[in-house]
Amino acid sequence: RTDLANLVATAAKTNSCDIEELRKHLVDFEKLFTQFLAHRKIGNNIIWSRIQPLQTENVHTYQSVVEAPLATTKGDLLDKLVVLKLNGGLGTSMGCVGPKSLISVRNDSTFLDLTVQLIECLNKKHNSDVPLVLMNSFNTHEETQRVRFKYDKRVDLHMFQQSYHPRVLRETLRPFPVNVDLKDGVSWYPPGHGDIYNSLKRSGLLERFLEEGKEFIFISNIDNLGATVDLGILNFLLHPPKDSVPAEFVMEVTNKTRSDVKGGTLINYEGNLHLLEFAQVPKDNVDEFKSIKKFKVFNTNNLWVSLRAIKRLLDEETMRVEVIVNRKSLDGGVNVIQLETAAGAAIKNFNGAVGINVPRSRFLPVKKTSDLLVVMSNLFQLRDGTLVQNPARLYPELPLVKLGEHFFMKVREMLERFENIPDMLELDHLTVSGDVTFGKNVTLKVITGASECWDLETFLKRSVSVHKGSVQE
Ligand code: UTP
Repeated sequence: RTDLANLVATAAKTNSCDIEELRKHLVDFEKLFTQFLAHRKIGNNIIWSRIQPLQTENVHTYQSVVEAPLATTKGDLLDKLVVLKLNGGLGTSMGCVGPKSLISVRNDSTFLDLTVQLIECLNKKHNSDVPLVLMNSFNTHEETQRVRFKYDKRVDLHMFQQSYHPRVLRETLRPFPVNVDLKDGVSWYPPGHGDIYNSLKRSGLLERFLEEGKEFIFISNIDNLGATVDLGILNFLLHPPKDSVPAEFVMEVTNKTRSDVKGGTLINYEGNLHLLEFAQVPKDNVDEFKSIKKFKVFNTNNLWVSLRAIKRLLDEETMRVEVIVNRKSLDGGVNVIQLETAAGAAIKNFNGAVGINVPRSRFLPVKKTSDLLVVMSNLFQLRDGTLVQNPARLYPELPLVKLGEHFFMKVREMLERFENIPDMLELDHLTVSGDVTFGKNVTLKVITGASECWDLETFLKRSVSVHKGSVQE
């Protein structure tokens, strides 16, 4: 506490930030830190043997949700909705500086352009006025503010900045920063998207949307191009099936494949639904966690939450979320920890919370340059700000694309290796390793007879592997 008070005093002396704001962020940090200290004493907060299998009533099928007839017009449903995109992240994993949402994804449109286009088209089509909210971090706020003029007339756009917290030295558990210089890039961090509930309230928008008669907020990652507004889910929330407890929280989950083994999963724990993150899994249970047998679904981070319920839990101060301890080694060998929370972890606090098992198409994250190549290709078509899978592709699954070190570091370097994006409509599996370039109008496909089930030899034949040189038409 003395250390935190010293930070406030230094900031006041140097006039380096808004002191009232800083105080509020440090109060939240202190709560998280206290929770962390308590867990260190009592050990892991999940007792593995208490995890129960999910029951059918815990996770609805998407079909059962969307086949229910809409209880009102689409416009009436949308009048109750707010859409929020989590926009705190940088584009570093794709070798870009600045907010990830400002990376061009398709036809020179960025993630943010596509999001705005989506909401704009939705509102035009249904004569509604769904507001779009961006939760920025101190890393992304300024640059996102700079481009907002492009959107202000097209959508009812709001943005606010989430909290910032001090990193903590692993050895001494004392704050790492000596002053409030958010730009130094190492001392402070945005504490994860679990911060959304407090930050939304602090921004004044929670109160405002409730006064305007809004009921639900749809939260998703801005880099998930599959996270579109689903009227079936909204209808389910606003007009719950007879004799069921109205759901204050819906988490969209989807079936796990072998490449999603580290994604957080839903569990039944002491009578409530909980999000179980990889970081919370005891070492001995990691293989079990990764197996598709026991934990069949994972969290897409598409979350639908009742605004009234958020307000109730925050007013009563009863909202609890698990602390995720993220260990980092900074340049110069300094070992720190940063305490974070995840938005989905709040599920356990809400009444009637359920999962909905949605199709994979609602989870289209762009994390790596290989994901970007896939969404830029003719595997997708752009309609009203939404990427939809090209119906001309015969298989529902997307190809597995692996790009080697010459490609995955930077978006620009990756794109320079393609004269234009290859036709990938009939591709199953692409591995590119080494110094390879692609000429104009290349088609990547495997020319063998189609087969439903392949043995290893056929599988290897069907994968396109490129190791060196230039691929031409
Ligand atoms: P994550 O960093 O949790 O992404 O951000 P991830 O998918 O688990 O892992 P990466 O991308 O491979 O690192 C998910 C979403 O939450 C936002 C990000 O901008 C992204 O849209 N986010 C994350 C915030 O807004 N604030 C945060 O503090 C952290």
